[in-house]
Amino acid sequence: MRSLSATLEAELAALAATDRLRACPEMAGTSRVDVVVGQHPRISFCSNDYLGLASHRALPSAAAAAAARDGFGASASRLVSGDLPAHRQLEVHLATFLGCQAALVFPTGYQANLGVLTALAGSEDLIVSDALNHASIIDGCRLSRARVAIYRHADASAAARLLAGPGRFRRRLLVTESLFSMDGDIAPLGALAEAATATDAILIVDEAHAFGTLGPGGRGLCAAAGVVPDVLVATLGKALGAAGGFIAGDRALRDILVNLSRTFIYTTALPPPVAAAADAALDLAAGPEGDRRRGLLHQHRVWLDDQLEALGVGGPAWATATGPTDPTSRSTSPIRGPIVPILIGGNARALAVSAGLAARGIFAPAIRPPTVPAGSARLRITLSAAHDAADLKALVAALGEALE
Ligand SMILES: Cc1ncc(COP(=O)(O)O)c(C=O)c1O
Repeated sequence: MRSLSATLEAELAALAATDRLRACPEMAGTSRVDVVVGQHPRISFCSNDYLGLASHRALPSAAAAAAARDGFGASASRLVSGDLPAHRQLEVHLATFLGCQAALVFPTGYQANLGVLTALAGSEDLIVSDALNHASIIDGCRLSRARVAIYRHADASAAARLLAGPGRFRRRLLVTESLFSMDGDIAPLGALAEAATATDAILIVDEAHAFGTLGPGGRGLCAAAGVVPDVLVATLGKALGAAGGFIAGDRALRDILVNLSRTFIYTTALPPPVAAAADAALDLAAGPEGDRRRGLLHQHRVWLDDQLEALGVGGPAWATATGPTDPTSRSTSPIRGPIVPILIGGNARALAVSAGLAARGIFAPAIRPPTVPAGSARLRITLSAAHDAADLKALVAALGEALE
């Protein structure tokens, strides 16, 4: 019999043969923009630290105060003895900021998606889900044991048809990201909300990448579209520069998740210093400093779009990833977020372009299947308020050469 190692090595070799082998780059550096990869200084264009708050001094100082008060680890699940002041304070802050009744914090955004989908849906239910939804949504759908129907990316009429289709279900749920993580485009939230209302479906919107970065005061794209989802999911680890995830909605939603959500119940609570750091980051993101940083981020995006157009690269990755779609069912929103996909296609070419950028001081790893559909490997350029004009110029110069 072959040893486990031999079997796994054969699997790794198969991944390498199709340019899908992955390894964690060894990162260091004082900010998420000026990084050291291995031994090499680089400008990073791949973190989700959109507002540049991950290295803001307010976060460690709030964390230190919380650690002194609440201890470092929560030491138990929230339902046992891990429900500490830092968690409750953060949840009140999030709910107030978003103008809803309640919020519930999870150790990660991944767990928030898993927890909400498995708590609200079961084998007698239907979940209608966008084709490009994040892995945590896909896994939540699978774990729920509900019937899952996938609609063509960002196609609200297709979602409406699936929701209104035959079948006797206890509940119908519609789940989408607002700003798509790998494509940077925006869901047609108004039309999706209409489809949900028309079929009495529960609308779940994952604002992981829009929370803090887009919408009025950084409240996200639902707020921008005037849509109130039944469940808003987001993360504390991207624009807020901390870690953790949360859901926001009505009090009854929070209470049912506390009772049914296995990824909330059967896990140690978020460390209180992390909750306090997220709370401090929310203070910044919700105030004038947040507005200033969102303004910078927007300026960066506008400037980069012009440069990429001149280079003849960029454009929405979904166009190739999912084939031609009905343009009338798409969002035509002028909102420009911090995620800029540069579609390459093949894995080997994407790796080569990424290596070309690295040789020119830019860190932007190739994003390959299974994170994105086969044949749509890409660079996922992400912008941060911590970038400056020189960083962006260096990116464009390096792209011009690496893409030749
Ligand atoms: C759309 C989306 N939802 C959820 C998550 C998970 O969030 P977290 O990193 O907090 O687990 C991510 C993170 O990659 C994401 O992109």
